[in-house]
Amino acid sequence: MTESKDNNETSLITVEAPRSDDLTPVQIVAELDKHIIGQDRAKRITAIALRNRTRRRMLTPELQKDIIPKNILMIGPTGVGKTEIARRLSDLVDAPFIKVEATKYTEVGYVGRDVESMIRELVENGVRMVQKRYRVRVEAQAEENVLTRLVNMLVHEPPKHQRPDRPETEDEFTQLDRLKERMREGIKRGQFDTHVVNIEVDEGTPKMIEIFSNSGMEEMGVNLQDMLGNMMPKRTKSRSATVAEAKTILLNQEVEKLIDMDSVISEAVHLVEQSGIVFLDEIDKIAGREKGSSSGPDVSREGVQRDILPIVEGCTVVTKHGPVKTDHILFLAAGAFHVSKPSDLIPELQGRFPLRVELDSLTKDDFKRILVEPKSALLKQYRALLAADGVDLIFTEDSIDAVAELATTVNEQTENIGARRLHTIMEKVLEDISFDAPDNAPPTLNVDAEYVRERVRDIVKDVDLSRYIL
Ligand SMILES: Nc1ncnc2c1ncn2[C@@H]1O[C@H](COP(=O)(O)OP(=O)(O)OP(=O)(O)O)[C@@H](O)[C@H]1O
Ligand SMILES: [Mg+2]
Repeated sequence: MTESKDNNETSLITVEAPRSDDLTPVQIVAELDKHIIGQDRAKRITAIALRNRTRRRMLTPELQKDIIPKNILMIGPTGVGKTEIARRLSDLVDAPFIKVEATKYTEVGYVGRDVESMIRELVENGVRMVQKRYRVRVEAQAEENVLTRLVNMLVHEPPKHQRPDRPETEDEFTQLDRLKERMREGIKRGQFDTHVVNIEVDEGTPKMIEIFSNSGMEEMGVNLQDMLGNMMPKRTKSRSATVAEAKTILLNQEVEKLIDMDSVISEAVHLVEQSGIVFLDEIDKIAGREKGSSSGPDVSREGVQRDILPIVEGCTVVTKHGPVKTDHILFLAAGAFHVSKPSDLIPELQGRFPLRVELDSLTKDDFKRILVEPKSALLKQYRALLAADGVDLIFTEDSIDAVAELATTVNEQTENIGARRLHTIMEKVLEDISFDAPDNAPPTLNVDAEYVRERVRDIVKDVDLSRYIL
């Protein structure tokens, strides 16, 4: 037991080797800039918070222990990029990351302890991440093993007892070896991809366990399915598959055999504890203290805050992979706070989010940039979609201006939903062509300001109508 622990310790060090999470704040902001327009302060602060984790890892253990993450609260109107920043960050950081909606925990059926499930999910992410890294290391070996297995399936050696009269000669051996070698190369090149072989695959968990584990057992902090699943002998069944299919299935089996799950799990837990990030979205929706009454869905709001508090403050959560300490997990929270205010959160929770950053409302100019600049900007998306049906969409400069202008107007006249307005307007503007393509559409469509206004004129004029349609 102690020995395997030691092994894990050594493998922990390899994880700490330089990785792509060594992005500097400037680089992080540059990456975010590719997707998000404006919101410079929010980008800066999150970049600093991320970098501080890398910095902390370079310090002595005593110092590391004392440096707690500075959690961030992002405040800004709806549709200005809060969630978008989180999404892009998750692609960027090489650390376990999870985004949860705080409102999820106020739903009926979620009681108290289940707030901890966010940490459990984070650990699952961590496990998947570490597994992937391990996989890279063993994949070459696994591929070799798969080839050996496939060769043995395809080359049928006549069993010895069937040829008692023919003693094996040196020659026959080498012949067989040579044949196998050729097969190996052939399989590699895909020459036998359509051949059918019989392979053993996992049958999956018996139905009974599924019924059990669906009835709120997750509360217990352990996953019943895994517990029982491991206790029961793994059932396999034989099925036929083409060699091409078998390659993938067997590769997964071989990789699984070569990966030492114990060290994966201990690395994952370590990684989560040291670098995990939780993005708590819609936190404003659990703010606002109920006054007096204690009925209805609201009861749980303050309760949820109280449940979240220990996790943010640092506690130990029991997961199926063992206890996980949350002291150094970074929490990013975001909310529009147009009904409630950050000061409506319980004071203890406010104190755990010392960094506040306000996101700006988007201007017409921001809208124009959002339409064209991000890596997968809205207009690029539509161009690509219609190009798939053979229509070349061309947006003139003044059409972009017109869409941005309309978005601003409608946001002012009805409700300000930020950049989401661009989506609704573009949908409306391109409705006809989206329907007509490919049957009745021209090969090229010039979308200019006139075209844009024409499509939405009547709706924008009628405020009531635009409330529903745009
Ligand atoms: N600054 C921005 N740059 C580029 N795209 C943006 C920006 N802000 C918003 N968008 C686009 O608008 C959509 C909605 O943004 P997002 O989900 O980030 O809103 P939010 O700030 O989280 O709002 P809510 O408070 O309603 O959750 C996204 O699909 C995103 O593409
Ligand atoms: Mg959001």
